[in-house]
Amino acid sequence: MGFRIIGTGRSVPQRAVSNDEIAKFVDTSDEWISQRTGIKNRYISVGETLNQLSAQASEKAMEMAGVTADSIDLIIVGTLSPDRIIPSAACELQAAIGAKNAVAFDINAACSGFLFALQIANGFFATGGAKRALLVGAEVLSKMTDWTDRGTCVLFGDGAGACIVDYDKDATVTFSSGSDGTKGDALCIDNRPLNNLFIKNEAPLDHTHMDGQEVFKFAVKTVPRAIEDAMMKAGIKAEDVDVFLLHQANLRIIESVAKRLKRPMELFPLIMSEFGNMSAACVPVLLDIQVRNGTLQRGMQTVMAGFGAGLTWSAAVFVY
Ligand code: COA
Repeated sequence: MGFRIIGTGRSVPQRAVSNDEIAKFVDTSDEWISQRTGIKNRYISVGETLNQLSAQASEKAMEMAGVTADSIDLIIVGTLSPDRIIPSAACELQAAIGAKNAVAFDINAACSGFLFALQIANGFFATGGAKRALLVGAEVLSKMTDWTDRGTCVLFGDGAGACIVDYDKDATVTFSSGSDGTKGDALCIDNRPLNNLFIKNEAPLDHTHMDGQEVFKFAVKTVPRAIEDAMMKAGIKAEDVDVFLLHQANLRIIESVAKRLKRPMELFPLIMSEFGNMSAACVPVLLDIQVRNGTLQRGMQTVMAGFGAGLTWSAAVFVY
């Protein structure tokens, strides 16, 4: 058993920010950012909330699927940057779109969030807990970014991607997911500091910290392994795959994965040039673009993979 993706959508803030514009604030250049990452632009919220972006993406996904909100019985939002700690982004999304029959919750698996949401939804389908899910990856990372740190602020963008996924008893999907908490410090943001009646703490709120080379090494080693494992479980080889929809952290990481799998870069669509790294939103935004421009066709053997803070990773193999 598995699932069928019946609708997709995306939304990003209106404000586009080029590399040249960032170079006015920190010591960097379009050349450095483009060559090291493949990123040239990103969209940054100037007021758009995660809830607004998620709701817009979800409305588009429902419209494409031709379904109403009350037919959705599971909502999962993968995010590390919800508008509020409670209620969850998923519950706020439920209220915004009127999905009154859904159970709704968030998961924080950073850039693997959308893939983990897909795997959890598949588990709900398997146990009869849901028949139709709305899965969203959404981030407003700009509020957690240290805009004085050129090593990180050039990388990230804001946005949301959504898809409607139906249970399909005849479909198959395989996953390969994992985590390594021992490497958590490689990419981290501390929560608000402990501050109560008994301890006073004036520390400011934390921002993103990253050991870029550690994350790079992790990604180029782990992502191909996860994809190979998921393909092995599915009984297919890399040559059988029509498209690889990978998390868009860095062009060089994707080139390395393609090389390791011995597959041409044409099979790895890229959107980081326009959107930057939107963490959990990357894969569903990429999916929506491929569906809407007709590149992703029914029957295509598809691989999706996410990786990021935790450290976490996940790959899925299914037929679109
Ligand atoms: N512009 C100009 N110079 C920069 C810069 C920027 N935006 N960011 C860093 N530098 C400088 C550093 O200060 C350093 O200077 P120094 O040699 O004088 O000390 C130099 O460039 C090299 O820094 P380094 O961190 O070694 O660069 P790198 O080749 O590893 O590239 C990343 C940095 C972040 C692009 C790269 O490590 C990377 O992509 N890592 C993966 C990150 C990622 O994907 N994270 C998200 C995972 S979900």
